[in-house]
Parts: sequence; C-alpha cells; structure tokens
Amino acid sequence: MRLTILGGGGFRVPLVYGALLGDRAEGRVTEVVLHDLDAGRLNAVSRVLAEQAAGVPDAPGVRATTDLDEALRGADFVFSAIRVGGLEGRAQDERVALAHGVLGQETVGAGGIAYGLRTVPVAVDIARRVARLAPDAWLINFTNPAGLVTEAMSRHLGDRVIGICDSPVGLGRRIARALGVDPGTAWIDYAGLNHLGWVRGLRVAGRDQLPRLLADPAMLGSFEEGRLFGADWLRSLGAIPNEYLHYYYFNRETVRAYRQAEQTRGAFLHHQQARFYEELRDPGAPALDTWNRTRHEREATYMAENRRTAGAGEREAEDLSGGYEKVALALMRAIARDERTTLILNVRNRGTLSALDSEAVVEVPCLVDAGGAHPVSVEPLPGHATGLVCAVKAVEREVLAAAESGSRETAVKAFALHPLVDSVNVARGLVEDYMGVHPGLAYLK
Ligand code: G6P
Ligand code: MN
Repeated sequence: MRLTILGGGGFRVPLVYGALLGDRAEGRVTEVVLHDLDAGRLNAVSRVLAEQAAGVPDAPGVRATTDLDEALRGADFVFSAIRVGGLEGRAQDERVALAHGVLGQETVGAGGIAYGLRTVPVAVDIARRVARLAPDAWLINFTNPAGLVTEAMSRHLGDRVIGICDSPVGLGRRIARALGVDPGTAWIDYAGLNHLGWVRGLRVAGRDQLPRLLADPAMLGSFEEGRLFGADWLRSLGAIPNEYLHYYYFNRETVRAYRQAEQTRGAFLHHQQARFYEELRDPGAPALDTWNRTRHEREATYMAENRRTAGAGEREAEDLSGGYEKVALALMRAIARDERTTLILNVRNRGTLSALDSEAVVEVPCLVDAGGAHPVSVEPLPGHATGLVCAVKAVEREVLAAAESGSRETAVKAFALHPLVDSVNVARGLVEDYMGVHPGLAYLK
C-alpha cells in the first residue's frame, strides 16, 4: 500500500512516519512517497525518516520527489499537508491583521481568510490532478484552513476527500480524563465547522456525563478548556467549545495580547524551523537528534508563544504531538481494512446540520469503513452556535468564489462578512495589505 505525503518536507512528517513504523498489521503502508517543492526540505526530512527506520524490520520504504504528478500516480492514500507561502506566509497573515487591529491568527478571522485565499487555488489544482492520476485514491486533507480547503477539494473529489484535525479528539480526551472515564469508551457529541465546534455531551454506556462536569467547578478547573473559558461561561453555554472559540468569546483580550507580543506564533515557528533545516544542510549533522531537539523546544515554548492557551495551564506533551498522525492512521486503517470506527472528521454535510446545505463541509462524528466517512446524525446546534456556523460558512463560500473568479471585490466581501472583522473599510485595507505581501494573491483582480 502506497501513501503519498504532499508537503513531505514538512516538520511534522516524522510524526506520521513514526506512527507508520508502529503499525505491524495486515494491509499496512509499505511505501511512502514524499512530495515537496523544496528539495532541501525533502532531503532533511528524508534523513530523519531514514534514522527513524534504522533497525526496524520491514520499515516502509521512502522515496522523495519534487514532481507532483509522479508522486500521485499509483497512490492508495494521499495526505495533503502543504503550507502555501510557508511559515513566513503565516507570520504575514497574523501580522497584517493585527496591524489593522483585528485578530491575526493562522486559521481564524482575517488571517485564516488570507491563508484560505492563497491555499484554495493550489488545493484545487491538487484535487484535479488526484482525480485524473489517482482516481481511486483517498485524499486525507491536513492542510489548513482544513474545513474550507476540504470543501474546495470536495468539489472535484466528492467524498473521497476527508479533512482531519486533532483538536476535537484532543478536547474529547481531556474532557473524558477530567471526568475520570476512559476516552476509548466515550461517545463524544461534537458538531460544528473545523475550529468552530462544541462538545454538547459525552456519553458512557448511554449516559451523558457532561452535566456532572458542568456542575463541578473544581473538575472544570482541572483541564485546559475549563480554565481557558472559565466555569461560569461554560455553565452558561451548557457545552464545551473547541479551544479556537476562545478567539470569538474573548476576542478583544486576545487581540490586545497578540498585538503586545514580541512576535506572532507563526514568526516564532518560522525562525525555529528555519534553524532546523539550516542545521541539516550539514551532511554530518545528526538528523533525528536535531529534529527531536527542535520539537521539544517547540513544545516547551508552546505556552509562552501561543496565547490561545495562555493562562489555561500546561498542556500534556502527548496532547501537543499525539494528535494528527493518530487520527490520520486510524482513518486510513478503517478505510483500508474496513474496520468500522467512529472519528470526528471534516466531510460534506449531507443533512447532518440542517441549517447548512448538503455540500457544506462540516466537522462531525463519522462512521468510517471501506466506503469512506459517513456523518452520523447529531442533535441540532443551539441558535447562537448555528448563527456563528452559518456566518463563517458564508465567509468560506466567498473565499471559494473569490478563488474561482479571481475577483478582488469578492475577496473584500469575504473579509467584511467575517464576525471578527468589524468594518468594511478594514476589510478593504486588509485586502490591499495582504496583496502587498503575498505573491500568491496576485491572481485577485
Ligand atoms: C492545532 C490545530 C491545527 C493547527 C495547530 C497550530 O493542532 O488543530 O490545525 O495548525 O494547532 O499549532 P502551531 O504549533 O503551529 O501553532
Ligand atoms: Mn486543526
């Protein structure tokens, strides 16, 4: 079985490969193809993987290429984990928005719209090529903004593209632990869009445990989202929001804190990772050790550099890195071996959330088998959540329309309609400034 990883020179690829090395079961991945535009990054990551594989019997073979079509041909699964514009682009997304006094963040608000406008045309090109060169392959999309990008790709690949995120699983696991229940036995009632969802219940043997959590301030204070949102607000909501909702519920404070920060999260990661790739230009440098050291630094500075969770307390190391690759592997396994399993994924709505049309990509629990990911019907979202989900989906649709038509006016509309952009004039200024720093937006006319 062949897995192709787009963005194969990315820093997180060794996490995926590490998970593959631990998979001994029948039908496992035997061949990995890494694709990246940057040969230097591919070389660095290939060296890390080679050291990871040393001494592991039957380790999946690894091949690297900068030719996209060659990478796609013959693939059974494609992971799309690209970052258009790199971390430098992310830093600009964050910086420009903050300069305009609105949230500057990787995926939420103005920063996420800029990132989406840059990424959608590239994602659509990939989807078209997959449809042509590997029509039977499953595309697992990690590329952010994951919901929007998955929807763009689904217009060409239908339900063969599935978007993943580690945040809902992580949230479910932290809630289960706070309640003292085994996360493996819990059914997590989660619904919304990517980075915009709520846990409305957590059932063990049919009984909802969430009311017990919401009634207990000490228990709420024992996990990250409990501290982040505060017991009172969680009780008012009657649900536990995804950590990214912090940007909506506490927008003013976050924007102020981010504007005061020395550098954005993207700028920090950019410098840190640039150092990793630079160090590995020395052919004698120990690849795996260097990668591990960089990764630990990244985790150690998570709190200091990521004010989304500032004040929320420590996040366990497992929660920082144990997400993506595990969800991706579980998904791939369920499809490849027809092992029925439930995962929270980004898929086409198909009536799951009644306020949205059936083509809209949503983030909900899905039953996965050889036929793909099938959304499970969930309770309707309450009014305020439906309002937010519809507003953000409308923005995503403007981004998709702008990417398709190349209309700058439509891009302005996307920014202006976002609940976290408070003036049409600000939206105009954002488009102007983003176009000034991102060559990838030159298509907007
Ligand atoms: C979580 C989200 C990802 C996001 C990442 C940012 O894992 O689910 O979608 O990209 O956080 O983390 P970073 O360390 O890059 O700020
Ligand atoms: Mn995510």
